[in-house]
Amino acid sequence: MQVITDNEQLSVHTHQLKALGGNIAFVPTMGNLHAGHLALVRAAKNLATTVIVSIFVNPKQFAANEDLSAYPRTLEADMEHLHHLGADVVFTPSEHAIYPEGVETLTTVSVPGLTDVLCGASRPGHFDGVSTVVCKLLNVVSPDVAVFGEKDLQQLLLIQKMVRDLAMAIEIVGIPTVRADDGLALSSRNSYLTADERIIAPALYETLQQLSGAIKAGRRDYSALCDHAREQLNKQRFQVDYLEIRRCSDLMSADHNDTQLALFVAATLGSTRLIDNVQINLNPQAAQ
Ligand code: PAF
Repeated sequence: MQVITDNEQLSVHTHQLKALGGNIAFVPTMGNLHAGHLALVRAAKNLATTVIVSIFVNPKQFAANEDLSAYPRTLEADMEHLHHLGADVVFTPSEHAIYPEGVETLTTVSVPGLTDVLCGASRPGHFDGVSTVVCKLLNVVSPDVAVFGEKDLQQLLLIQKMVRDLAMAIEIVGIPTVRADDGLALSSRNSYLTADERIIAPALYETLQQLSGAIKAGRRDYSALCDHAREQLNKQRFQVDYLEIRRCSDLMSADHNDTQLALFVAATLGSTRLIDNVQINLNPQAAQ
């Protein structure tokens, strides 16, 4: 496994690989890798001859009130995981390599429509930070395919739109959320939960599943369904930021004619903000 920190060196390496007929799958991460990330790397290995994983804690995607310095950095353990999984290259650029003249002066890539809703509403600037850094990383790595988790579905849809809009010749692949046995979506933030909170946390996914079941069974009173689900969660010590039924195409509120839906939830439990989502395909042909 090769570790590269320099943009130029990585570009030369990927061009050489491609000249030899290889193709590249890319997994961008901010490190602190857990089983969810490792599933992305495994999926990437089935998509291309070479897997490149980046580890870069991106300052631009932290909102003003979020503590960048507290973000867990576990480089040694991350490297070990990636080595065991057989990643070919780990790209660990410095902040200077990504933001040579500072975070504020780099050209910003902003994806209209999808950035200000859901998590974007409570984390101003976050998604501009994500689209900007992912665009830069994609340009440096030049992969054939890049892999993102469906756990961050808003992020995945945003990157798919960016790549479509800017005609970037890269396939963006979403990988299903990896869950603990009790249904809690794996996330670096789960480690912040107390033992008591960890017992309650799976209620988030249970609530989405109940909602999904009700919609598949024919309920279309979306607003009442969401109100009820929010109430249930708030009774269980969650503080719900949002719980919404949106359509996947543009993340606008779903109406009764929409068939590709996603249920999104963000809620704080103690001091930890958790997010989750469930996608629903209401096309009559879809296997429900
Ligand atoms: O999902 C993440 O870890 C980050 O948002 C990403 C895609 C690596 C961009 O910094």
